[in-house]
Amino acid sequence: MAISKDKYKQWGGRFAEPTDAMMERINASIGFDQRFYREDIRGSQAHAAMLARQGIISPNEAQAIIKGLEQVRAEIEAGHMEFSDSLEDIHTHVEARLKEIIGEPAGKLHTARSRNDQVATDLRLWVLAAGAELDAALNEYQRALVELAEANRGVIMPGYTHLQRAQPVLLAHHLLAYCEMAWRDRQRLADCLGRAARLPLGAAALAGTPHPLDPASVARELGMAGTCANSLDAVSDRDFVAELLFALSLAQVHLSRLAEELILWSSQEFGFVRLSDAFSTGSSIMPQKKNPDAAELIRGKSGRVIGSLVSLLVVLKGLPLAYNKDLQEDKEPVFDAVDTVLDCLKVLAPMLRGLAIDAGRMRQAVRQGFLNATELADYLARKGVPFRRAHELAGKAVRLAEIRGITLEELSLAQYQEISPEIQEDVFPCLEPERAVAARMSPGGTAGQNVEAALKEARKRLWPAE
Ligand code: ARG
Repeated sequence: MAISKDKYKQWGGRFAEPTDAMMERINASIGFDQRFYREDIRGSQAHAAMLARQGIISPNEAQAIIKGLEQVRAEIEAGHMEFSDSLEDIHTHVEARLKEIIGEPAGKLHTARSRNDQVATDLRLWVLAAGAELDAALNEYQRALVELAEANRGVIMPGYTHLQRAQPVLLAHHLLAYCEMAWRDRQRLADCLGRAARLPLGAAALAGTPHPLDPASVARELGMAGTCANSLDAVSDRDFVAELLFALSLAQVHLSRLAEELILWSSQEFGFVRLSDAFSTGSSIMPQKKNPDAAELIRGKSGRVIGSLVSLLVVLKGLPLAYNKDLQEDKEPVFDAVDTVLDCLKVLAPMLRGLAIDAGRMRQAVRQGFLNATELADYLARKGVPFRRAHELAGKAVRLAEIRGITLEELSLAQYQEISPEIQEDVFPCLEPERAVAARMSPGGTAGQNVEAALKEARKRLWPAE
C-alpha cells in the first residue's frame, strides 16, 4: 500500500521549500522504528479511547480510529505497507494510512499528543515486551545449565584461580555459578522494567496539554504501573533504555565468560568437553580442525552489546531538556543489543545441551597440580599445628613430590613423617579429591550436599509448574 507521501507531512504548514534529499535520508527513522508498529498502534488506540471517554472526540470518531488502526496493523503484518523515508517514521506512516482509510477523524487522533510523548511511549512498550522475551530466554539458558549439572552429578574438576589449578570442585558447582549470574541478570532486568512501565503520554511536546486528559487510565490499559510525574522528563528520559542496555551488557559479559571457558575447555590443552558439530565449524585449509565458533561469537558479540550502551550514554550526555532529535539515535542500539543477547542465549542453551563432558580428563587434571595441598595443610591444622606452620609443611611436601615427579598421595608415610611426625597413615584418605570436595560444606561451598540443595532449589525456581 503506497501512501500518497508528499501530501502527508506532519509539519508541512510553515515550509515553502522541499526537504533536501540527504536531509530526508538522515532524518528518517522508518528503516528501524517500523519495528514497533504494534506498540505505536496499541498506544494510539488507547489514546483515542481515552479522548472519547473524556469527551474530547466523539465515540464514533474513536470507534473509526480504533477500527482503522486495526486495519493498518493487518496491512503492515501482511507486508502491504510500503515504507518511505519521506514519511519519516512509523508514527507518520500509521497516521497517514489511517487518514486514507477513515478520512478526517484520523486528524483528531493526534489531539493532546506529540510525537515526543508518542515515541517515548512506543519505546517503553517495546522495551517491556522485549524484557519479557529476554527473561524467558534467560530462564531457558538457566535450565540448560541445570540440566547439564544434573546429568554430571559427582563429576569433579579442577577449580581455578589465576587459571592455575587450585582446588577440586564439582562441575555442577561451577555451572551453578553461571546460573547465579543469570538470576542477577533477571533481577536487574525486572528492576529496570519496573521503571520503564510509566506512561509518558499526556506530556505532549514537553509542557503538558490543556486538554482534560486521563493518562492514568491509558497507563492501566497499556499495562503500565502509572504515568510519568514530570512532562519535561517524560519526553526526554531514556534512563530505561540505558538501564536495559547495562543489564544486557552485563548479561552478555556473563555469557562471554562462559563462552571463554567453553573455548578453553574444548581445546586439546584442556580436553574437558567436546562441542557438538552443530555449534562448531571446520577450517578451509586444516582438515583436522573443529573450531568453537559459536562460543567465540558469543564472546565477540559482547563488544557490540557494550558498544550499544556506550553509544546511548554518549548520545544522552549533552542533551538539554526536553526532547531533542538526537534521541532518535536511541533505537538502533537497543534493538541490536536485544537481538544480539537473545540470539546468544538461543545458541548457548542448545550448545550446553549438546556438550559432551570428559569426566576422565577432568579427573586426571585434578590429580596433577597438587590440588590437595590445602587438604594436607588443613589436616595438620586439625592435628593442632598452627595453620601458618601447616602451610609451610605442606609446601615442603609439594616440593618433595615435585622433585620426585609424583603426586602428594604417592609420597610414602616415611617421607611424610620426615616432614612432620604429626602426619599419620590417616592422611591418605584426606588427600582424595572426593574428600576434599565433600569437606567444603561452608554455605555456598562445593560439597555435594550443598550442590544437591542448590540444584533442587534451581529446579523449583526454573520449572515452577512441576
Ligand atoms: N523519529 C522520532 C524519534 O525517534 C520521533 C519523534 C519525532 N519528534 C519530533 N519532534 N521531530 O525520536
